[in-house]
Amino acid sequence: MVQKDLQTEPESLDRVDGRPKVTGTATYSAEYAVGNLAHAVLITSTIAKGRIKNINAKAAEESPGVLAVISHLNSPGVPGYPPAKQPAEPAPVGTAFRVFYDELICFNGQPVAMVVAETLEQANHAASLITIGYEIATHQTDFEANLSKSAVALSVQRSKNSPFQDYGRGNPEAFDAAEVKIEATYTIPTQHHQPMEPHAVIAVWEGEDKLTVYDKNQGVKSAQGNLAQAFKLARENVKVNAQFIGGAFGSGIRVWPHTVAAVLAAKKLKRPVKLVLGRELMFTSVGYRPYTVQKIAIGASKNGILTAMNHEGTGQTSAYEEHLERTILATRAMYACPNVFTKYRLLNLDVNTPTWMRGPGDATGMFALESALDEMAFALHIDPLEFRLQNHADTDPERNLPWSAKSLKECYQLGAEKFSWKNRLPAPRSMQKDGMLVGYGMASSLYGFHRHPSKARAVFSRKGSVVVQSATMDIGPGTGTAMTRIASKILGVSPGKIRFDLGDSSLPDAPGQNGSSTIPSVGSAVHVACEALKTKLLKLASEIPGLNLQPDQMTIKNGRIFNLTDASGGISLSDVLKYHNLEQVEVTEESKSGAERDQYSMYSFGCHFIEVHVSPLTGEVRVKRVVTCADVGKIINYKTARSQSIGGIAGGIGMALMEASVMDHRFGRYITNDFASYHIPVYADVRQIDVIYVDKPDVHVNPIGSKGLGEIAIVGVAAAIANAVFHATGKRVRDLPITVEKLI
Ligand code: MOS
Repeated sequence: MVQKDLQTEPESLDRVDGRPKVTGTATYSAEYAVGNLAHAVLITSTIAKGRIKNINAKAAEESPGVLAVISHLNSPGVPGYPPAKQPAEPAPVGTAFRVFYDELICFNGQPVAMVVAETLEQANHAASLITIGYEIATHQTDFEANLSKSAVALSVQRSKNSPFQDYGRGNPEAFDAAEVKIEATYTIPTQHHQPMEPHAVIAVWEGEDKLTVYDKNQGVKSAQGNLAQAFKLARENVKVNAQFIGGAFGSGIRVWPHTVAAVLAAKKLKRPVKLVLGRELMFTSVGYRPYTVQKIAIGASKNGILTAMNHEGTGQTSAYEEHLERTILATRAMYACPNVFTKYRLLNLDVNTPTWMRGPGDATGMFALESALDEMAFALHIDPLEFRLQNHADTDPERNLPWSAKSLKECYQLGAEKFSWKNRLPAPRSMQKDGMLVGYGMASSLYGFHRHPSKARAVFSRKGSVVVQSATMDIGPGTGTAMTRIASKILGVSPGKIRFDLGDSSLPDAPGQNGSSTIPSVGSAVHVACEALKTKLLKLASEIPGLNLQPDQMTIKNGRIFNLTDASGGISLSDVLKYHNLEQVEVTEESKSGAERDQYSMYSFGCHFIEVHVSPLTGEVRVKRVVTCADVGKIINYKTARSQSIGGIAGGIGMALMEASVMDHRFGRYITNDFASYHIPVYADVRQIDVIYVDKPDVHVNPIGSKGLGEIAIVGVAAAIANAVFHATGKRVRDLPITVEKLI
């Protein structure tokens, strides 16, 4: 088993774009210097349901600097929107909300008008002069009050093979017959992605049929496709640029109405338009992790073998679109249990549509499952780690397939050792330090393996430098750094001579950065492209007479090709090109999955061990120490991987202890819509974190043996914290976040 950390991996690269990021020269979407720019401000509805009766925009239109006030009354229209009325039933996920389309209001915060002016200040002032009359209808935004209306999603009813169909294996009565039973309900509130950089767009039309957008998103190619479809343009006539992203966590996976609104305004005015969402608008414009209630029933034998798991999850979505997530799916695959039944329901409310947020579904589902496992271990008087080991799934119990690779047991072992789990006294409230109650908790994690077809271009130029390109993204993990490392190792060229281009829709096709798929997908494409480039370079070298380069002996190192038997001989790569009178050598390759997906079940696995201190007086919880261990196949670059794991833990701390979007249901409006009221972890909340990787290549998943890391970093963290809080205090909190009033 390989175990490394930063100290033992001295080759780990610093971020290739670290300098521009910290010195402020990196250009983010709102910062592009586009000439003749007009500034837009959105006006959003103050009611949750009903219709717009009138918009009084006269004062705004006459206000200094104002170029236009745009609404459904005068929108140039989005040609790709369906011509019919808004559908009577919720549309499948991914169906765009139609901005400035008609007078209907579907949620509080819906964009209803937009002011465009010469300056932002003028636009803001004019926006304050607009009055809108509404006809108010009764809205339903309260999840708990409406829970009885939840149902199987329409899209699931219509799709027999949907994974969200009711699922069962084994005996449905197994739970009733179990020797020991746990039944509980777990709730997570709505949580919002809070990237440092708010969403922003600059839309530029070049003539009638060419569009360029600088847009904060997680997928330039999918945004290109979406905008081309919406505005009925040839794909190649839409350019999407998103080179630097200040965090996204899922909020940038889709093209949201505000981006379309900016494109509409630019079209109407025939000049570039910039729109930046303020923090308040981030709560209603770009999705969120949905409010979710889960019922779990677990049965086990007295000696600690799982005999039944029933898991029912209900999530919220909007009235106009379904959003489904993996909430109950992990329960089918995580443990060796013969009798498992799951149900998934949706509740449509008069709110905006949720979206994926880091570890979507799994972070939610594993909070419930891993809390319930802890409750069962306690009931059985078995150590929580031992209980999980006893029920380890050696093969995938859902699909009856072997795992492509699974080193979860090693994760448990490495994590427990590093954490000193053996020092845990079993009884709650039995450990104390400096007047604080001490709790040790742990949880497992998993995340499915996602790989999408991806292309990469690799170019070696006579100067000795390499450019690798792919229309992939970097929302924070350090994509360019990892890809540089892959290219450097294969091509034998130092990282400093390699440039990796991303975030531009004109580059070779690649998926967006989501579902922890970038390294598995684009990393593989970069790998095969660089291998192909290397083969080409070696062949060119072997054709040069007098060098005596032997095909089975040749290697590249430090920019030279030579025979392994004679490191002093050979030729520099630049001279190979010179000899052949070439300026550059270029390849473009594609990499994608094959039949292996049907032969193996593919997941990343991991676990978290967490120590909390809880004040017996105030109920304040401090996460003192985290040991996180993951098996994500081969680690490409330790330094950036570790940083990604720490980010996931920070997100998990927020999920467990702080984050909740609170709505005033009288108005269907969030009252937490800034950082004063929506709390996220700061440095003081994120203490010692040890990150361990098993770092064994998974030879079945792709040519680089590497699985995804971004999402598994957060999955299970909230449960590990809740379990530690229970161990510290004896109080089981089943509704997140675990705030002080729940502990005193
Ligand atoms: Mo992730 S929620 O797929 O950005």
